[in-house]
Order: sequence, then structure tokens, then C-alpha cells
Amino acid sequence: MHHNVHRFCIAPMMEWTDRHCRFFHRLLTRRARIYTEMITTAAVIHGDRARLLGFDPAEHPVALQLGGSEPEEVAQCAKIAADIGYDEVNLNVGCPSDRVQQGRFGACLMAEPRLVAECVAAMKASVKIPVTVKCRIGIDDRDSEEDLNEFTRVVQEAGVDALIVHARKAWLSGLSPRENREIPPLDYARVHRLKAAHARLPIVLNGGVADLVQAASHLALLDGVMMGRAAYQEPWRLLEVDPCLFGVPAQFVSPHAVAQALMPYIERELARGTRLHAITRHLLGLFRGMPGARAFRRHLATEAIRPGAGIATLRAALALLRANEAPLVHSSAA
Ligand SMILES: Cc1cc2nc3c(=O)[nH]c(=O)nc-3n(C[C@H](O)[C@H](O)[C@H](O)COP(=O)(O)O)c2cc1C
Repeated sequence: MHHNVHRFCIAPMMEWTDRHCRFFHRLLTRRARIYTEMITTAAVIHGDRARLLGFDPAEHPVALQLGGSEPEEVAQCAKIAADIGYDEVNLNVGCPSDRVQQGRFGACLMAEPRLVAECVAAMKASVKIPVTVKCRIGIDDRDSEEDLNEFTRVVQEAGVDALIVHARKAWLSGLSPRENREIPPLDYARVHRLKAAHARLPIVLNGGVADLVQAASHLALLDGVMMGRAAYQEPWRLLEVDPCLFGVPAQFVSPHAVAQALMPYIERELARGTRLHAITRHLLGLFRGMPGARAFRRHLATEAIRPGAGIATLRAALALLRANEAPLVHSSAA
């Protein structure tokens, strides 16, 4: 029905969108495009690839986000990503942290459109999968409409398949990455105008999208929406993605059903030596706003980190929700 592969995306988030998180999110939506945490080219080239790049086949469609700015290196990494089955490679031109700036990648690349274009062209020459860029509307004093149009034109000429635009400029000095996600104001109209000016380039809006009603309103003007914190902190929202944005039923009817469906995965991972908390930390917001959600969250947050915590710990946390839903039955039984 919808051919646009970027219609709904879950943002790359360091320490958050690891493979356990992505597997869990995939149970909530079959259609969303999912992004890894940013992985630097140095890590891909020299690091433990199985650990850094491994993913479950169920995660498809899944995109690898790269941090880097050496055309040869990003091309080499794109090839590695494509060979192990990633569906897309995305270049990070949006992260403002100091550590990232020292490596000359992330948001500071907004000031070097030609270098970004070289990276895109090199990746396009080495892989068949889509090559995309995630950027900001501007950085520091380089934040005029012309600057963004110029950046877009240059990377489009280099063959970029889609541009994901975080609708907030970044301040490269003086603000922490966290402040950079809150403080400069969002400017959605800027992204809408960018699309109007580059009609043939798929453009995806990111930043502050709180729910699927907002997402749907942007989709009237843009090719896609990328949701970050709202998707992670309130993952139950993702259950609405398939029915509301793609017109197909969700795979599971409720957050409870998703938690049940995750059990075999958790058992498998525990058997491999994964700690329970590494998986369940991504579930803390699954029932947010529902009766018993706090007790569920508290139980998991404190108990799942204990040595030997296992599937029973998750079951006990889930029981706290049920107890709250039907308090009379439980109190008479006690
Ligand atoms: C914990 C955290 C980690 C993030 N890590 C990355 C990252 O690795 N790469 C990236 O491009 N953006 C990263 N971001 C930014 C998000 O992808 C997104 O652009 C930003 O949170 C705005 O979207 P939102 O308002 O929907 O959360 C991160 C954001 C958070 C909250």
C-alpha cells in the first residue's frame, strides 16, 4: 500500500537502540524502519564486528548508522554493513557531542557539505542498499535557509537516497548533547519548506514528535517521520504504527501480549549469558500510564539487575500489573 520505506522510523539512539531494544520494538511494529546506535567507522573497521554489528533476522528492515567522515572508510563500512544484511546505511551528520567533533564527524559536518557528499558518493559506489544522511536544520551561525538548501542540494547530487532532518539546529559549543535535544527551538516549517524545494528527494522529519497523530500530520507534507524518545520511553505507542500509519493490523493486540511474545527471546539470550536487565531495561515504559505500570517498572528496575535474575523476575513484574487490574480477586485469594 505504501511504498515509501521511510514512512515511520525509530531513531538511532546510543545506549538505547541496541539489538535487544530493536528486537523488542520489532514485536510492536512490523513496518517501522529501525536504526542502530551510531557506530564509528573506527569501531566497525577495528572492533569486534559480531558484537557491534550483530542483529537478529527478525529486526529487518534495519539500518546501520555510521559515524565517520573519511570517504574511503565510510564506503568500506557500508560494504561490511551491506554484506552482513543491513537494509540501509545512514551517516550521522547530527550528533553535537565534543567527542564526536574531535573525530570530525556528526553535526560539525553540516559545515562541510562537500565532504558529506564525497562520503555519500563513495558509499553509493560500494553498495546497492540505500544510503541516507541524518542531519540538523543548521549548526551555530550556519543555519540559514540557504545553508540548508545548499547542503541538501550537494548531498542529493551525490546520490543520497533520503535525508532525515532533525528539525532543531545544534550548538556545537556551550550545550551538552542533551541540551541540544531540548533547547534550540524546533522548526518544523523549515523542514516542510525543504521538502517543497526538493520534491524528488525523500525527506524524513525528526524531533519532538510525541505521538502518531502528530506523525500523521507531518506525513501529509513529508515522506516520513522518525520518532526517538517517545518511541523508547513509551514503546506501547509503537503498537499503533502498523494500523494507524500502514493500514495493517499490529502483530500483537496489547503490551501484555508483546511481553509474552518476548519470553522465548529472553530465555534464549539468558542461555547465551545475556543479563536479564540488558533486555528488560528497554521494557520499563511498556505499560506507562496503565494501572500498575509504576510497580512493574520499579520491580524490573530493581530486581532485574540482581545476579541470577531470570524469566521469573519478569513474570513477577507482570503480575503486579494484573494484580492492579483486578485487585479484588487477588486480595480475596490472599
Ligand atoms: C539517548 C539518546 C541517544 C541518541 N543517540 C543518537 C545517535 O547515536 N545517533 C543520532 O543520529 N542521534 C542520536 N540521538 C538523537 C535522536 O536520534 C533524535 O534525533 C533526537 O532524540 C530527536 O528526536 P526525538 O525528539 O523524537 O527524540 C540520540 C538521542 C537520545 C535521546
